[in-house]
Amino acid sequence: MSISILAIESSCDETSAAVCTDGKILSNIIANQKVHEQYGGVVPELASRAHIQNIVPVVDAALSSINCDLSSIDAFAFTQSPGLIGSLLVGSQFAKSLALAMKKPLIAVHHLQAHVLANLIDEPRPAFPFLCLTVSGGHTQIVLCESPSKMKVIGETIDDAAGEAFDKSAKLLGLPYPGGPLIDKYAREGNPKRFHFPEPQIPELNFSFSGLKTSILYFLQNAGKSHVYKEESIATEVEQKKFIEENLDDLCASIQARIVTILLNKLKKAAVETRVKNICIGGGVSANSGLRSAFEQTGRENHWNTFIPAFEYCTDNAAMIAITAYYKYLQKDFSDLTVTASARGTW
Ligand code: KG4
Ligand code: ZN
Repeated sequence: MSISILAIESSCDETSAAVCTDGKILSNIIANQKVHEQYGGVVPELASRAHIQNIVPVVDAALSSINCDLSSIDAFAFTQSPGLIGSLLVGSQFAKSLALAMKKPLIAVHHLQAHVLANLIDEPRPAFPFLCLTVSGGHTQIVLCESPSKMKVIGETIDDAAGEAFDKSAKLLGLPYPGGPLIDKYAREGNPKRFHFPEPQIPELNFSFSGLKTSILYFLQNAGKSHVYKEESIATEVEQKKFIEENLDDLCASIQARIVTILLNKLKKAAVETRVKNICIGGGVSANSGLRSAFEQTGRENHWNTFIPAFEYCTDNAAMIAITAYYKYLQKDFSDLTVTASARGTW
């Protein structure tokens, strides 16, 4: 008997619905919320309202695009945590209502576990155990994954996430939100060795990105006049703007290169310590072309088997919720209808 799951993702500013049958993704519809651009970041209240507007058409499209109707669905899944609580509540209540109406099981999924298991969507799939570097707008983690249900965080950021480092650096360069993809775009034309930003010395497998942001700020305030990072501005605002304009590609390439080396140096350490050779990346920042190619290169040098999800499964999407829910279905790991969404949520 085949198993079909309808999954909903609404943890932040993407409303998404996907259908998977026997672990194969048949549809994955994503509605991006443009409303936040003008505010330079996600506004939680506006995100919840946009989810409410989007959820019916998005779920409808996920079903109708594959000529499927609700009666063919065996279970309903949703992102339970972590995320913006108002956003999570929209997807969770919608999934619960469908499960109640259709008298089918409900499956609650952890968003970060789903970013890891996005690597199981397409062939070739990593064999267990594998390591996953999960890099998103809110999290940066190294996860040791022994089975779809047995995962352990062995390293994480002590302050900003890698996506935040991209977005905050982009803001300093005057780029709109979300700046990560724009840094990626300009970096393609730039020289990554032109400017040097320091690498933080953080113990064990943990990361820190807040110092990088500060060093970029001081560097821009100097407008390239000095490589000593000083707190006081020695360049005028006009000089700073001109410096950014004239050096945007090299600045983006140098910032991106530093973020990528911070990430990959810790991933190499994790691979040595765990002796695991199957290594994956996931989360929004794994869409970054610099990270993707440096990760492949590091993999070749260290004899890893490397895995990267397809672009559409890197940033937030319901396909990764569906695949995680499929493995939970096999374990009969269902939730009752009183389960609630939670902004933080434990593993
Ligand atoms: O996983 P995701 O879609 O949402 C969260 O769970 O947070 O990740 C969003 C983050 C944002 O910070 C965004 O700027 C970053 O992923 N991002 C990128 C790229 N595409 C998305 N960062 C760098 N380069 C990219 N190409
Ligand atoms: Zn995410």
